[in-house]
Amino acid sequence: MAKVKVAYDNYWQQVMDTMRMGLLLVSRDGKGRPNAMAIGWGTMGIVWSRPMFVVLVRHSRYTHQCIDITGDFTVNVPYPQMAKDVQFCGTVSGRDYDKFTERGFTAGDSATVDSPFIEECGLIYECKVVQYTDVVPDNFAPEIIDHFYAGGDFHRVYFGQILWVTADEDFPARLG
Ligand SMILES: Cc1cc2nc3c(=O)[nH]c(=O)nc-3n(C[C@H](O)[C@H](O)[C@H](O)COP(=O)(O)O)c2cc1C
Repeated sequence: MAKVKVAYDNYWQQVMDTMRMGLLLVSRDGKGRPNAMAIGWGTMGIVWSRPMFVVLVRHSRYTHQCIDITGDFTVNVPYPQMAKDVQFCGTVSGRDYDKFTERGFTAGDSATVDSPFIEECGLIYECKVVQYTDVVPDNFAPEIIDHFYAGGDFHRVYFGQILWVTADEDFPARLG
């Protein structure tokens, strides 16, 4: 399926809706191997006058190491029939599995960043990290830290400037 360039905010609603199932964040490890992890938290908007995808990655994730190496990532919006792929990428680590091989993903060459994208996904955001910051435990409302960080493992927040966005020609009709 040919992908065409689209405006970053064309499908904002569809991205937010799909995030309930999970999006796929792709980066590369130190050996250049692509790795995909599921993300359910993130947002898209304008920061520093630039279109930005903001994602939260816990320190324990292999992806954390990968993004710190590459300095970029892609956000891949899967179709509903890829739910099992998302679950897999959200429960096993790239330290132990080659998730692209396991799930039969095709790695596409991005136009603007080193991290590849997943051809089978319908909508792709190519993002360059322009800022990252670690959440500060002291600054949380108690209901957030108690609920989400009882075991520690805090998040690093990556601000990915959106450089290039492509979608399948029949996206979002295929979302159903
Ligand atoms: C639907 C779903 C959404 C998730 N969202 C996030 C997230 O936003 N941030 C995060 O750090 N982990 C999230 N996870 C957990 C990671 O995807 C999971 O730990 C994954 O195995 C990490 O892979 P890696 O070690 O290859 O980076 C999510 C898992 C699922 C199933």
